[in-house]
Amino acid sequence: MADPVDYDPYAYAIHEDPYPVYARLREEAPAWRNEKLGFWALSRHADVLAAFKDPSRYSSRHGVSVDPDAFSEKASANMSFLAMDPPRHTRMRALVSRGFTPRRVSELEPRIREIARQHLAGFAEAGRCEFIAEFAGRLPMDVISELVGVPEADRPELRRLADLVVHREEGVSGLPPATIESAMKLVQYFRGHLGERRRQPRDDLTGALLEAEIDGDRLSENEIISFLFLMIIAGNETTTKLLANMLYWLWRNPDQRKLVDDDPGLIPRWVEETLRYDNSSQAIARLLMEDVELHGEALRAGEKVVLLIGSANRDERVFARADRFDILRDTTASLSFGQGNHFCLGASLARLEGRVALEELWPAIRAFEVDVEGLERVHSVNVRGFAAFPISFQTGPR
Ligand code: HEM
Repeated sequence: MADPVDYDPYAYAIHEDPYPVYARLREEAPAWRNEKLGFWALSRHADVLAAFKDPSRYSSRHGVSVDPDAFSEKASANMSFLAMDPPRHTRMRALVSRGFTPRRVSELEPRIREIARQHLAGFAEAGRCEFIAEFAGRLPMDVISELVGVPEADRPELRRLADLVVHREEGVSGLPPATIESAMKLVQYFRGHLGERRRQPRDDLTGALLEAEIDGDRLSENEIISFLFLMIIAGNETTTKLLANMLYWLWRNPDQRKLVDDDPGLIPRWVEETLRYDNSSQAIARLLMEDVELHGEALRAGEKVVLLIGSANRDERVFARADRFDILRDTTASLSFGQGNHFCLGASLARLEGRVALEELWPAIRAFEVDVEGLERVHSVNVRGFAAFPISFQTGPR
């Protein structure tokens, strides 16, 4: 008899390939119980999608973390409306959306391009770089800082704190003291930043959040701070990982690389397929609010349910030849940014960053090669991608 299927999120993130485990879950145990960590895992696209669209049954009130110690009302108190259900979520998201508008995002394009060029200039002549440290790990935080109006001098320290907030040691569950301490420092920093904006109003996101109003209702200072904090948690590491995953999968698929070489206009489709194929956000948790019967299993109110986005995006019921990296495919059913009321607020920003970053990089890193020996994966239960990603390339004009 075959081994029983086992999904251990503390191991999968560092493995090269968690997808065979997902495939077994989808076929053998689409509602699977992890007894040790106390959660149900849903792996089929239809089930993940249905849960995303049903917040009254699949609640976000304990946050979204796979980590048992980070899944409670108390542990997710800093997660702003990511850890709320309607109607509280509806109110907060509507107010925040007054500031975080599509126009504000699209207006960032020239600055994102400039930031990308600055980082690129640091290694373009060398013909090699550690892509995370020198580019992908910097750009998203710089873009959030730009959006929020954080001065350049403060950015390195903010990046350091943000990295510590999401860092986890391999095989260790629970929140490390450095995470808690850095979170407190970030909150303190934003409190000071907000005070400054009140004294000297400016046209950045922070200014817009202070102004945002719906029928006399406004965001409190703590609500703005927790939203700024959430952006760092939700928008920083995920986008860093997206950028390296893009290079990795194109490098692993020479036929697809030729397509982009022949037509760089395909970069947006390369972004979309990378998100589907190997999403940086692999798993999002929910708290079950009522008993549910699923695939012959009885899931009880009060239990934790983990929605496996990474698995849903490889479900053959929805994506033909799902295990093939194919930048020309239709990715509209991809669940990379979630779905429903919590659909990623930063999706268009992440897409913009992916496109602009690669448009700038592509002509500069001709014939790039990945140094496999130097690759390191991040230790995280929700996020998948590289902590170190060395590449070499040819310099000079394409
Ligand atoms: C590749 C990059 C990204 C991925 C894969 C990603 C993924 C996700 C996912 C799956 C959710 C849904 C969570 C849930 O249903 O509970 C989400 C929510 C969210 N994301 Fe992103 N995200 C990315 C980039 C960003 C960026 C750049 C920002 C902003 C700067 C951002 C801000 C947010 C916020 C604020 C939410 C909460 C929305 C809500 O609860 O209503 N994300 N993201």
